[in-house]
Amino acid sequence: MFSSKIEEIQPFLVMDILRKANDLERDGKKIVHLELGEPDFPTPKVIVESAKKALKDGNTHYTNSLGILELRKSISDYYNETYNLNISSNRVIVTNGTSPAMLILFKLLLEIDDEVIISDPHYACYPSFITCTGAKPVLVPFKNFSSEVTNYITDKTKIILINSPSNPTGTRLRKEEIEKLSALHPVIVSDEIYHGISTGIRDHSALEFSDNSVVINGFSKFFAMTGWRLGYMIVPECFVRKLEILQQNFFISANPFVQIAGITALKEAIPEAKLMNQIYTKRRKLALEGLESINLETRPHPDGAFYALFNVSNFEKDSMKLASEILTSAGVALAPGKDFGPRGEGHLRLSYCNSEENIEKGINLIGKFLKEKYL
Ligand SMILES: Cc1ncc(COP(=O)(O)O)c(C=O)c1O
Repeated sequence: MFSSKIEEIQPFLVMDILRKANDLERDGKKIVHLELGEPDFPTPKVIVESAKKALKDGNTHYTNSLGILELRKSISDYYNETYNLNISSNRVIVTNGTSPAMLILFKLLLEIDDEVIISDPHYACYPSFITCTGAKPVLVPFKNFSSEVTNYITDKTKIILINSPSNPTGTRLRKEEIEKLSALHPVIVSDEIYHGISTGIRDHSALEFSDNSVVINGFSKFFAMTGWRLGYMIVPECFVRKLEILQQNFFISANPFVQIAGITALKEAIPEAKLMNQIYTKRRKLALEGLESINLETRPHPDGAFYALFNVSNFEKDSMKLASEILTSAGVALAPGKDFGPRGEGHLRLSYCNSEENIEKGINLIGKFLKEKYL
């Protein structure tokens, strides 16, 4: 099923839904967009102004491959304050988004036929990052991930990749689960990109439980900066030089004015990011109540990120077929669960990166469509 051949890297079906939605809009149809995993908020003004100033000040050249020192320091300060840690900025590597971070990290840690444990369903792109190194993803059912994971560890397992809050389920691993996973032998790589977008108790970093864990994170979601392309890794000291060499070779450095804007984000925009989180929290409640009211079953307790994954297999097993029908007939764009692995099939993902009014409207339209077609 998984292959390192370029032509076998899976297309992202949600992008096909988006393209179709845009075509329909061009033809005059109204579409409610609940498909994309990207904040609908503008990037906070203070960040935008900081980048503008940085450009005016002439910050338009390469930087150190590890990133601007002040940004690396701001990231380690942020982690130390948020999670009560004591991490040196020497362990922080700034990248052009979380995605390139994954690419060079897996290039460093994986060899042909190595295995990486991921949950099923999982973030759509994980298998591609893994297979392009010649390694293999090993899928563990999401439902009992932390209790079943040991059954899947072999002498080839190099990494356990976790993502909490999760794309696509919006659920979180409990503190004890992260602690338990951190005690296992393979390296934990923790994708913490949705940290801070959650309800109730704070998210826990894998670094709270083991200094050998690797964190990948970025500015895309929490600060609504998807298009800026800014991410980072926090790695054990012994990886830094090797990752620096990979970064030098493949990307040289992240954009200087974007890095400067990242410093401003961490120093000045956290209150605004927290306000966005409050709005996601209200929307989450609305979306979950709405889905429940039309009898659509979500994963238990989505309380993070901005997603709900709901089961539609009673109506249609092929999630792409159903997403396409809901789009053309009801005018609501959703992500097909098939994007997220075999256990995502039979589900649709709703992203509540849209106004309360549109979330309500979208869910009503889905309910009406399902009732008319299937009930
Ligand atoms: C779980 C997860 N990790 C990583 C990424 C990629 O983030 P970035 O914009 O930093 O490349 C995404 C984007 O949707 C994601 O959902």
